Amino acid sequence: MAESFVLNTGARIPSVGLGTWQIEHEAVCSAIYAAVKAGYRHINTAVAYRNQKEVGVALKKLFEDGVVKREDLFITSKLWPGNHAPEDVQEDICSALEDLQLNYVDLYLIHGPIRIKKGSMFIPDNLIRTDIPATWGAMEKLYDSGKARAIGVSNFSCKKVEDLLAVARVPPAVNEVECHPVWQQAKLRKLCQSTGIHLSAYSPLGSPGSPGYCGPSVLSNPVVISVAEKLQKTPAQIALRWGLQMGQSVLPKSADETRIKENFDIFDWSIPEDLMAKFSGIKQVRLLKVEFVIHPQSGYNSLEDLWDGEV
Ligand code: A2P
Repeated sequence: MAESFVLNTGARIPSVGLGTWQIEHEAVCSAIYAAVKAGYRHINTAVAYRNQKEVGVALKKLFEDGVVKREDLFITSKLWPGNHAPEDVQEDICSALEDLQLNYVDLYLIHGPIRIKKGSMFIPDNLIRTDIPATWGAMEKLYDSGKARAIGVSNFSCKKVEDLLAVARVPPAVNEVECHPVWQQAKLRKLCQSTGIHLSAYSPLGSPGSPGYCGPSVLSNPVVISVAEKLQKTPAQIALRWGLQMGQSVLPKSADETRIKENFDIFDWSIPEDLMAKFSGIKQVRLLKVEFVIHPQSGYNSLEDLWDGEV
């Protein structure tokens, strides 16, 4: 199994990236350091995770210590939902780059089809309607400038991807979405494959215990457990390996060195076809519905509306 996938820009995205959402400030540096030493070359971050500065400190230390070179890492960051106005997008990436102590990111994403008023907190009363074509135009300029070597989206449904493709000069390279055996995104994966957009999976372990997530556990799913037992792997390794074999990059979060290593030990074995087939029988449930966005000001009147029926 390839350790990377090729994007529509021609660049490669490493197939396993360290997710940094919910890593506590004081644990970020050691988690990133441990991940890179274990072989990770892809770090997924965002200003919304509130620990991007610490990510920057960790990267600086890795470069200074000679553990890895900048050009061998793939760094993803995301546009803050309060900076969707075209005139704010450039400033947004400059501030992300300052935090990260970098002069470019490998991938910059619109964090979601969700917008808040500029300078406001991420609470329902501050929601406003998106204007994705206008925001995307400014994202394209970031791509032209080289500050973002690829641009993409996150949390976009099939309809929202299609609407964007209809107006984009630079097509999105990536759509980063919730994806794991319990929410496999079959329809979206098919669309992304046919349009050359790489699907990247956040919450590939189902984000056990995370706020906002509700529904069945991925790691205790009977299919995941039975495949793990047959192959003598952990349920987390099975969920991640399933993702790679489906053609998506996976972004597991962990702050624990043992689990960081475990989550990367998925390259020299595979899930045979007969066992892969069993995943198609798993009941599908979106675990992160993002209900708080359903609000008169956001323009989303229901979850159906937000996810365009994919819920
Ligand atoms: P921890 O940071 O203590 O390792 P996701 O990547 O789907 O968002 O899931 C992240 C959650 O899964 C975190 O709570 C993380 O906890 C936990 N986790 C990460 N790796 C593993 C693993 N190999 N086995 C069990 N839980 C894991």
